[in-house]
Amino acid sequence: AASLPEGHSLRPIQRTDFDAGFLDVLRVLTTVGDVTREQWEARYDWMATRADEYFLLCITDPTGKIVSTGALIVERKFIHNLGLVGHIEDIAVARDQQGKKLGLKIIQALDYVAQQVGCYKTILDCSEANEGFYVKCGFKRAGLEMAHYF
Ligand code: ACO
Repeated sequence: AASLPEGHSLRPIQRTDFDAGFLDVLRVLTTVGDVTREQWEARYDWMATRADEYFLLCITDPTGKIVSTGALIVERKFIHNLGLVGHIEDIAVARDQQGKKLGLKIIQALDYVAQQVGCYKTILDCSEANEGFYVKCGFKRAGLEMAHYF
């Protein structure tokens, strides 16, 4: 696998990443809203109590600013012999950093974690426009997403 650009690091998110721009990177993906530091910390702390279920990773640039994010949520099932399924969510690369394989590196890292914790597959939902990216990451089309918004 290709290495990260010079000075970049891939790591789990930290409680202080409110200041490193984690939420700003997510704004390339969708609406984030006005999440305060206190709200960020409360949600971070909640996830930290479920550290065998929530795996949030990021890539930082040489200044420490976050330029890519991704999440793995491990679902515990009864079927498939108490199987574990990894759900890949909220993949984002800062607009001016796209096309440098940062998205690919995040997916590879999340897939690695999923395999290490014993998932038999990882799954995700994406737009048609992103299908080619996920195919390059080793995924294939399977099924159809449905949503019920409230
Ligand atoms: N369609 C087809 N191929 C693509 C696309 C695309 N939309 N995007 C990237 N690729 C290709 C690249 O050309 C590259 O191919 P190569 O190996 O032949 O050179 C390969 O996929 C890897 O590309 P990366 O450089 O790793 O892509 P990038 O770092 O730009 O990340 C991403 C891709 C995550 C889609 C990024 O552009 C982004 O953040 N977009 C906006 C937010 C978004 O749509 N996120 C995904 C939502 S789905 C989810 O979260 C489960």
